[in-house]
Amino acid sequence: MISVTASLQLFDFHPALEDFRASVLQGLKQTPKRVSSAAWLYDQRGAELFDAITVLDEYYLTRTEMSIFRQYGAEIGDRIAGGALVEFGSGSSKKIRILFDALKDKGKALPVYVGLDISKEHLQASCEQLQGDYPELEAIAICADYTQPLELPDVFRLQTRPKTAFFPGSTIGNLEPDRAVDFLSTVASLVGQGGGLLIGVDLKKDKSILEPAYDDAQGTSAAFALNLLARINRELEADFNLDQFRYEAIYNETAGRIEMYIVSLIDQVVMVAGEAIAFAAGERLLTEHSYKYTPAEFRGLAGQASWEARSIWTDAEAQFMVMDLVVV
Ligand code: AVI
Repeated sequence: MISVTASLQLFDFHPALEDFRASVLQGLKQTPKRVSSAAWLYDQRGAELFDAITVLDEYYLTRTEMSIFRQYGAEIGDRIAGGALVEFGSGSSKKIRILFDALKDKGKALPVYVGLDISKEHLQASCEQLQGDYPELEAIAICADYTQPLELPDVFRLQTRPKTAFFPGSTIGNLEPDRAVDFLSTVASLVGQGGGLLIGVDLKKDKSILEPAYDDAQGTSAAFALNLLARINRELEADFNLDQFRYEAIYNETAGRIEMYIVSLIDQVVMVAGEAIAFAAGERLLTEHSYKYTPAEFRGLAGQASWEARSIWTDAEAQFMVMDLVVV
């Protein structure tokens, strides 16, 4: 479905309620139980809670990546100037603004911007704001789960200008490595030979820094995960009692990933969309993985999907990196 507000084209491919029901039930019936897609965490409340995570003291990822964009904005901005850019998981679009401002300072601009996100209200508001703040920009919003097969609108597909994909935030880390390669291959075919990818990737580091980033003192990370149960209650007529579950995040050093779980505090049976789901005391429901990479590991992963690294920028403590890749 396409709707056009005064200035913005919005393509709405938000998954239907039946997809949510089928996916949730499928995940809950697996052993071990899991959430089949991290996209389900981002209803409107989930998107708000995730925004709250990004400004926590413990969650170094967002501020570190923003500091890299601020420090190297002029150089990074040059990679996208005059072209068409598609941002995956655009959220509140704070990071792309740093690059737009850096371009503006140099008298340059980006003519075509496509923002893709699963959270429609968030996406629409931020794309409308971008359009207002950068009048030379043609902004298109697509509400979709971008890990699923997808075709971009003609205004992007038929561009002869350089095409770049923008995937900040280390969201690539929420995909299993084989799925990450599939996704990177899809992105490579969307931007074509010579197209670029600017991607943010969280780097491997000590567990004493990683674990608090995913289990903060204020409980925002826990609220973000538990919000999924509230969403399932609301949308699938379920009866999860949130007080009978707790949140847990651990760094699995061997696998190089943070594992996030909701843990049942007691033996219990929960009704979800008319089906009885049994939890044993201590049983876990996996909500997300967040993989961490070394620059060499990530370069290898991207290489499997026809990408070659052109540049890497990191912060002084090498906590996070932004990589510029090109399709070869
Ligand atoms: C969106 N993504 C990069 C976050 C991360 O760091 O893996 C998701 C997240 N979940 C809980 N905290 C952060």
